[in-house]
Amino acid sequence: MTEQVIYPVQPGQKTKLNNAQYQAMYAESLRDPEGFWQQQAQRIEWKKPFSKVKDVSFAKEDLHIRWFEDGELNVTESCLDRHLDKHGDDVAIIWEPDDESQVARRITYRELSKEVNQLANGLRDLGVKKGDVVTIYMPMVPEASMAMLACARIGAIHSVVFGGFSPEALAGRIEDGNCHYVITANEGVRAGKIVPLKENVDAAINLCKSDQVKKVVVLNHTGNACTMEVGRDEDYRQLVDKQDSECQAEVMNAEDPLFILYTSGSTGKPKGVLHTCGGYLVYASMTHEYIFDYERGDVYWCAADVGWITGHSYIVYGPFANGATVVMYEGVPTHPDCGRVARIVDKHQINILYIAPTAIRALMSDGDEPVEGASLESLRLLGTVGEPINPEAWRWYYRTFGRSQCPIVDTWWQTETGAALITPLPGATDLKPGSATRPFFGIEPALVDEKGNELSGATSGNLIIKDSWPGQMRTVFGDHQRFIDTYFSTFEGTYFTGDGAKRDEDGYFWITGRVDDVLNVSGHRMGTAEIESALVAHEAVSEAAVVGFPHDVKGQGIYVYVTLNHDVQASPAIRNDLINWVRKEIGPIASPDIIQWAPGLPKTRSGKIMRRILRKIATDEYDQLGDISTLADPSVVESLIQEHQALT
Ligand code: PRX
Repeated sequence: MTEQVIYPVQPGQKTKLNNAQYQAMYAESLRDPEGFWQQQAQRIEWKKPFSKVKDVSFAKEDLHIRWFEDGELNVTESCLDRHLDKHGDDVAIIWEPDDESQVARRITYRELSKEVNQLANGLRDLGVKKGDVVTIYMPMVPEASMAMLACARIGAIHSVVFGGFSPEALAGRIEDGNCHYVITANEGVRAGKIVPLKENVDAAINLCKSDQVKKVVVLNHTGNACTMEVGRDEDYRQLVDKQDSECQAEVMNAEDPLFILYTSGSTGKPKGVLHTCGGYLVYASMTHEYIFDYERGDVYWCAADVGWITGHSYIVYGPFANGATVVMYEGVPTHPDCGRVARIVDKHQINILYIAPTAIRALMSDGDEPVEGASLESLRLLGTVGEPINPEAWRWYYRTFGRSQCPIVDTWWQTETGAALITPLPGATDLKPGSATRPFFGIEPALVDEKGNELSGATSGNLIIKDSWPGQMRTVFGDHQRFIDTYFSTFEGTYFTGDGAKRDEDGYFWITGRVDDVLNVSGHRMGTAEIESALVAHEAVSEAAVVGFPHDVKGQGIYVYVTLNHDVQASPAIRNDLINWVRKEIGPIASPDIIQWAPGLPKTRSGKIMRRILRKIATDEYDQLGDISTLADPSVVESLIQEHQALT
């Protein structure tokens, strides 16, 4: 283990549960899942109560996952309507603009509810019906959350696409979702730079089938004009303002889809992870309350983008179900300097801060100075998510932002899991820097070897989850077989996470990272296959192989081996061209960090690329290449090592 220093629960710390209570409640959640979740499900509003809690089989021949299956609800009634009577004037969203000199917006639950209802009516006017997929491609503005809730209000399935994705990536998601409606903005602003969202949408639509997209709703966020196609494009404000402020909530079955969200796997195109209404909301809301020890009145900031699952569960659904005050920040943490996050904390008197390790490392790169100017006294709890946090960054976060007083909840989870599965609970869990610690209620993690044998005690292995929890994804949109193959076929009868982990003597889990061909770059998940297929689509490229390598700030960087076509000469110009090409095909987050020219790639005799070897070369571990005698041409390894050494 890298670090075992324990940061015990501090005496007198405000908390919902102590360790003994956590232990008892956890044991109960496994002993009687039906009883446990029957009770927990009462935290949300049901239009019609459910009579059955759980119907699940992880067996691959009979895979099904159903929670609260005959219950009926509309998630927006839990997130909005029920707060209005007593808490309608509570602030739901505090929006902090990219440009520090601009005024922040404060939106109450009453205002949020009104606008969501109006937009929902507007969408109905445009023809959107229950079960239709609506793509949301927005900057980090309150209207992004409103658009998600407006879809939920009328039973439409939202598919949020991160605003940093390229037109090509957006088009792929629109087509895969068979989506006819898009909600976007003219432009976004990040770190002072304009992001041409509407232009990207137009380009994406051109790449789709001609009758794919019927309507585009465009928010004018920056005041600049953009092209509007008559008959197809609708101005968001005009559409919303003319609507009635009440929209009847669509009655949804607990297992009706709430949203799809595309995420990368180890093979093929990104898959549409599908979450449903009832179980997802119960689980998102419960984890938000317990993990962040949320009490009404707390100001809470989750610095993710709504384009990722963290934004869905912990900027929108979990916190709104709990009536929370959510800070939403338009820009990037280091803009205009590394002191920005601390200034935002002071400005809005934030109590709970949830941010990715990559952002912490970026802030840390400037030392303590930018943080020292701030008071940070409002903070009482810190969180991290998205990738393993190195103990050094953990301790810096604890010491500076936390003033050595705030617990850090290192939450491990995935797009597929809906919300956090392994995490400390503040006040209940002693902390170890770099460990996501212990399972949440109802979660039964285990470690297995390559053959699927369960391992006991302090050990390491593949991380699986033995039984279902309400927030689990239900299928891959349009491809149920892929769902079964990806998650339930490797270790039969269990959910395979794709992660490796260690477990220590105290039963604490330490996530070691993906064991498949998925990269985690600045907390963004990417499939090596996706980047490879973008590269080989370039006319100069014959073959490409992508691996990850440790990167100080990003966690992992993208290392690319490229074999050029015979008639193409390697040059700095072609290298730049390939980087720009990948940015265009996927988005800037997929930019290769290192491109190495490879006259040949290490392949087995049957033609399979041996990535294991490429990973070791990229990380200078030449003595751990393993057996290379089975390669079709072992000599390529030596030349790749030489080329790598010349490059780095
Ligand atoms: O490898 C794990 C890593 O991020 C993956 C999931 O990525 P994504 O679906 O994009 O969701 C990210 C936000 C929940 C996981 O398979 N990961 C996530 N959180 C942690 C983590 N690795 C270590 N520690 C974490 N706290």
